[in-house]
Order: sequence, then structure tokens, then C-alpha cells
Amino acid sequence: MTVPHVTLNNGVQIPQLGFGVFQVPPEETAQVVGTALEAGYRSIDTARAYGNEAGVGEAVRSAGIPREELFLTTKLWNTHHGYDAALQAFDRSLSDLGVDYLDLYLIHWPVPSADRYVETWTAFEKLASDGRVRAIGVSNFTEAHLQRLLDETGTVPVLNQVELHPNFPQAELRAFHARHGITTEAWSPLAQGGLLKERSLVALAEKYDKTPAQIILRWHLQIGNVVIPKSVTPERIRSNIDVFDFELADDDIATIDSLAGGERIGPDPETFAG
Ligand SMILES: NC(=O)c1ccc[n+]([C@@H]2O[C@H](COP(=O)([O-])OP(=O)(O)OC[C@H]3O[C@@H](n4cnc5c(N)ncnc54)[C@H](OP(=O)(O)O)[C@@H]3O)[C@@H](O)[C@H]2O)c1
Repeated sequence: MTVPHVTLNNGVQIPQLGFGVFQVPPEETAQVVGTALEAGYRSIDTARAYGNEAGVGEAVRSAGIPREELFLTTKLWNTHHGYDAALQAFDRSLSDLGVDYLDLYLIHWPVPSADRYVETWTAFEKLASDGRVRAIGVSNFTEAHLQRLLDETGTVPVLNQVELHPNFPQAELRAFHARHGITTEAWSPLAQGGLLKERSLVALAEKYDKTPAQIILRWHLQIGNVVIPKSVTPERIRSNIDVFDFELADDDIATIDSLAGGERIGPDPETFAG
């Protein structure tokens, strides 16, 4: 399975479809990620808060895939904001993953109430300039949080990983990203399974002889998102990456676009402090 790459604003390339491991139990993570690597995924998205970085590392070592063919992302948790704390958190994540560099490190949440994400970002700039991470980005940042980073630091995040699915497509934020060269990465791309019985998606699945999940993932890819679906189910893991042999017509993209207007499933970045 060949997954296309997206070129980030610093020239680094990320597979457009990766594998997310939120809520994958630590003791199952090595096996689940092993299944994903066998199915062809090369990008894995974990986080300090998921408690399963060690399992990701174990799977990577067992798979025997050259490190440079993999794209590993983890995230700094909310209690580790601040310059020194961020550097220490990075070291712990790297050690648990068992690798000597990271492809992408993200600030998991801005936590505006703590007002430290700009300081944290300067630690991220240091990690990048020291060559310990190939690209630095953010997650759950609103336009205002991004604007502050742009105004107060010298480095534009390579991407912003945000909740995004047909029901909550974040059109304005995506337009802001496009204006500033920030790639959009969609978390909960399948709305955690909540949209899979939606009538219009089921109809499109029949039309293309695909599953509703594959239709949604194809929508993400065609509107330019990087996408990181999660599953612990081998058959779903394999089918979620089997989305590169068909293309949705423009009017079918428009049908999916018309599902917009829903609410967030996850927390509000303005108030979430974890
Ligand atoms: N930055 C953040 O704050 C943040 C927040 C949330 C998530 N994320 C990242 O985004 C990734 C994906 O988001 P997510 O895990 O919340 O949700 P998701 O990928 O939208 O959905 C996962 C759910 O959908 C089910 N599913 C997956 N493929 C399916 C298929 N083909 N058919 C039917 N059901 C299917 C899974 O079930 P089974 O597992 O039981 O198969 C699971 O319950 C996470 O793993 C994580 O890496 C980031």
C-alpha cells in the first residue's frame, strides 16, 4: 500500500495517512501497532498522555523497518508546559519510544489558562535546531493561539492537529492554516465511529463499493488533510489504509461537506486544561 506524502513547511514529508493510538491499552499497543505496520502504515501518532509510547517503540523494533522509513509523532502533555519541563518531557518520550530522534513533536493542548505555550514553543525550537526532532507542530490550537505563536516567535508550526470530521470540518481554521503554510491534521477523523451509519455515507459506500469509514477517509484525503484513524480491529486497520484505489467525484465531496454543522466531540481548546 503506497501512501502519498505531504510536504510540510520545513521541507519534511509526512505520510498523508497514519495510525493513531489514542485509547489503545498499553499492553496491547505493540501488537496493534505491529498489525498496522504490516498493513503498510508508516506514520504512528502517539502522545505522552496515552501511556503507550513504550508499546509503539516495541512494535517499531520488532518490525525491523528502517527507522528512516517511519514517521513517529508524540505530544507534550499539559502538565509539562514551560521551557525546562518541555525539554525533560521530550527526553522521557524519546526514551520510552526507544528512538534517538523524533519525526514530529506536538504541543498537545495550548492550555490558555496557564499561559505558557509560547515559552514551551521556544523549547520546541531548541529541540528542532539541535536536530533531535525533524519537525515541530501543535495540536488543538485555535486561530488566536496560532497567531500568537506567529507574532511572538520565529517559527511557524508545521501542522496543527485538530478535531475534524465531516460533521465538524473546521473550514475557517483550515483556511487560516492554508494562508500560513500550516498543514491540517485531523484527529477523530471518523468522529470516533459516530458517523458510520449516516444515510448519505452509507449510500456513497454502496456507490463506490467501499465502507462508510473508507468514504470518510477519502474525503479527508481529497480536501488535503493528513489523517490518523485509530482501530484495534485488524480488519478495520487494514481497510482504513485501503483508500488509494478510488476517488470521490466533486458532487459526492459536496454531499459529505453538507454534513457540516455539528458540535465538537472532544474538549474545547479554549478551556481544556486536562
Ligand atoms: N491531539 C488530540 O487531542 C487528539 C485527540 C483525539 C485523538 N487524537 C489522535 O487521533 C487518532 C484518531 O482519533 P480517535 O481515536 O479519537 O477516533 P477515530 O479514529 O475517529 O475513531 C476510532 C473509533 O472508530 C472505530 N473504527 C475505526 N475504524 C473503523 C471502521 N473501519 N469501521 C468501524 N469502526 C471503526 C474504532 O473502533 P475499534 O478500535 O474498536 O476498531 C474506534 O472506536 C487517535 O488515535 C489519536 O492518535 C488526537
